[in-house]
Amino acid sequence: MDLIFKAIVNQVSKKSGLKLEMYRESYLRRRIELRMRILGLKDLSEYYSYLKSCEKEVEELVNAIAINVTEFMRDKTPFEFFMKKILPKISYKKILRFWSAGCAYGEEAYSIAICALEATESNFTVYATDIDEDCLQKATLGVYAESQLRNLDEEIKRKYFEKVGNRFKVKEFVKRHVRFKRHDLTSQEPITKFLDTIFCRNVMIYFTEEQKAKVLRDFHDALVDGGYLIIGKSESIPRQGFDCVSLTEKVYRKV
Ligand SMILES: C[S@@+](CC[C@H](N)C(=O)[O-])C[C@H]1O[C@@H](n2cnc3c(N)ncnc32)[C@H](O)[C@@H]1O
Repeated sequence: MDLIFKAIVNQVSKKSGLKLEMYRESYLRRRIELRMRILGLKDLSEYYSYLKSCEKEVEELVNAIAINVTEFMRDKTPFEFFMKKILPKISYKKILRFWSAGCAYGEEAYSIAICALEATESNFTVYATDIDEDCLQKATLGVYAESQLRNLDEEIKRKYFEKVGNRFKVKEFVKRHVRFKRHDLTSQEPITKFLDTIFCRNVMIYFTEEQKAKVLRDFHDALVDGGYLIIGKSESIPRQGFDCVSLTEKVYRKV
């Protein structure tokens, strides 16, 4: 890691509280280059000077690092697996607890709630966290463009959303189950314990192996025995502490 790059990482980590050194270097470089292009700066030292002189740039870079692409029931089949194979197995419990870690604009968290409303009589809470405050504010409102709902069939849309103009608002009885909170996976303890299922999809791809191992230890601690972890379709994890339940759906279970 060259000195200027290191200085940028240190500066932003100090000012934002986010442990930037826990993100993959190649990923960080691409996000910094994106900021440099937007600002018309030609190299890292120019960017470093700008970063020191402009307070707001720390926030801008953190926003650039937090890529928030998501949608309801992203990839669809892991949510079907959750609904058809996991929920029936754990529904003997009166209360269920789920965590959407890196929830972006909330689509994943509400998808979990919709699956639970469809497939279980148990009471449940979905904890939904992200580092990005703007995302969390929008997630709390729960209003989405139709394109975000393209994986949902018409009946699910009618049941769980109300139409507001040309947008779709999550109904109150769904929202009541979801609790949004700012939480940083790099520096904070798990949001809560005794979780039945954790969804952490398309988040750990940005982390170093060391950070990924830390997050997996945290998830292991936070799950009940036999609790499930669902990661992104393109991701993989070492088996330590987890058995693979479905390789295609990327579902793991705490040993
Ligand atoms: C690509 S989105 C994934 C959203 C959703 N999980 C999905 O699969 O559709 C990645 C999210 O991870 C969040 N994120 C990045 N670093 C994080 C961290 N250290 N702690 C918590 N969330 C983080 C970003 O803000 C972003 O909203």
